[in-house]
Amino acid sequence: MYVCLCNGYRDSELRELAQQGVSCVYEAYEALGNGPCCGTCLDCARDIMSEARAALSVAAE
Ligand code: FES
Repeated sequence: MYVCLCNGYRDSELRELAQQGVSCVYEAYEALGNGPCCGTCLDCARDIMSEARAALSVAAE
């Protein structure tokens, strides 16, 4: 699904970056090409990235 409508970023892209070690949503957005515009998506993007990191750490245990 699309998380950021301004930039067309998807949840799968954010999860992949989080699993690669990117922890900051701003860093993730820059890695995808552009920083946030309106900022409406940032809370949702943070939640998705946190969940992806948490799932990774559980899988590593
Ligand atoms: S929806 Fe992501 S910056 Fe606007």
